[in-house]
Amino acid sequence: MTLKDRVEWKNLEKHYQEIKDTSLKEMFTSTPDRANRLSIEDCHWFVDFSKNRISEKTLELLLDLANAADLKNQIAAMFKGERINGTENRAVLHTALRNCSDRPVILDGKDVMPQINAVIGKMESLAGQIRDQSWKGFTGKPIKNVVNIGIGGSDLGPYMVCEALKHYSDRSLQVRFISNIDATHLVEQLYGLNPEETLFIIASKTFTTQETMTNAESAKRWLLEVLGEKAAVKQHFVALSTNKEKVTEFGIDPANMFEFWDWVGGRYSLTSAIGLSIMIAIGPDNFKKLRSGFHAMDEHFRTQDLYQNIPVLMGLIGVWYNNFFGSESTAVLPYDQYLHRLPAYLQQTDMESNGKGVDRAGRPVDYQTGPIIWGEAGTNGQHAFYQLIHQGTKLIPCDFIGFANSLHDHNDHHHKLMSNYFAQQEALAFGKDEDDLKKENTPETLIPFKLFEGNRPSTCLMSKRLTPESLGALIALYEHKVF
Ligand code: F6P
Repeated sequence: MTLKDRVEWKNLEKHYQEIKDTSLKEMFTSTPDRANRLSIEDCHWFVDFSKNRISEKTLELLLDLANAADLKNQIAAMFKGERINGTENRAVLHTALRNCSDRPVILDGKDVMPQINAVIGKMESLAGQIRDQSWKGFTGKPIKNVVNIGIGGSDLGPYMVCEALKHYSDRSLQVRFISNIDATHLVEQLYGLNPEETLFIIASKTFTTQETMTNAESAKRWLLEVLGEKAAVKQHFVALSTNKEKVTEFGIDPANMFEFWDWVGGRYSLTSAIGLSIMIAIGPDNFKKLRSGFHAMDEHFRTQDLYQNIPVLMGLIGVWYNNFFGSESTAVLPYDQYLHRLPAYLQQTDMESNGKGVDRAGRPVDYQTGPIIWGEAGTNGQHAFYQLIHQGTKLIPCDFIGFANSLHDHNDHHHKLMSNYFAQQEALAFGKDEDDLKKENTPETLIPFKLFEGNRPSTCLMSKRLTPESLGALIALYEHKVF
């Protein structure tokens, strides 16, 4: 039976016809405590779903669909290390990477936690040596620059988090990222760096990706042009990989290879060895806090009832818009400049995972799978594309991500930022009608151009402050939404 043949899907189709013309204004008028009823607070985040075009009945029906798809057991299977990645016959255990509890995670009869903790210990040791300057380069100078070379999951996550947690990082270290095969990226990222003080992290699960290997070879040449001897490579290159043979072939000391495993998907790997650049930048203690934020949301996802489960509800509401309203994309709008790479990071998480035209049994699907993910930090997006979200002909559900407190109390900047954050959500939901415009003395001829019909959905995600913990929980939230 395909998804669309299920009675639960047909019930949703019927329900869509009943609800599609009800406006958010009407929903708030008929249920004034709607915001309370449709909000959940847990794991550093307050998530308000009330400005979505849903009723409590919609959620019930979506949850029926989730139950029919056996979601609860599927979640349990992932956490238990069952081989739910059918095409590669692999377990999917990124949640074990940040398992901060004493719970063992058994794969093929063996607890994977000791090996995870051993790699973390090894990362902590290297990060400590770089940060306290006891790791010396070939000519005896301490490391001042760390350059991560990787692409996709071996770049987007570490880069995004290093930007997001810059406030918590050691500013005497330069952490840079090279991913594109375009030499411009390499040249610009190496610009001004002294090879004697530079450590390269070659991040590649397979150690065969063309872009990464080309950039790594060029970085080696750049280093050896100054340092001369091949032996220098050992002190200036480390690897994050599952492929020991290729790492050794490249000239990296296998003792400086930080291992991870085939059950870590590239795009879910930032709390594995792939996060080494993050740990060097923010330090082992903050990395621990980041992992604990992930773990809190993992536990929420694993144990909460589906109707109180933030990632589950976000995912189901996504199915609702994508399939029943025909909306093609979701905008991710972080109101924090530190999160400027979050939309790009989530593009891979969501679009590489759910960008499929067949189901898990390989049958072509007759429903919509993943949405297009895009976005930009607020308020920059406001002065670029919000016009289309407010007044254009497409329905674009938006995730507004904000923090009650800024990391920089600078005059009234945060006040203004957050005023925009709330006002946008309000304007999208309730619009501006003819009466409003007349009250503002808008000339009659301009009214059609100034009308905002409203009824444009958004989800409000708020946390007290951008911290390693709240960031970890946010990333895990989106990972599980994708699941
Ligand atoms: O683009 C495909 C892909 O396999 C991604 O899933 C992955 O994140 C990226 O390439 C990099 O792969 P690797 O870490 O093996 O270099």
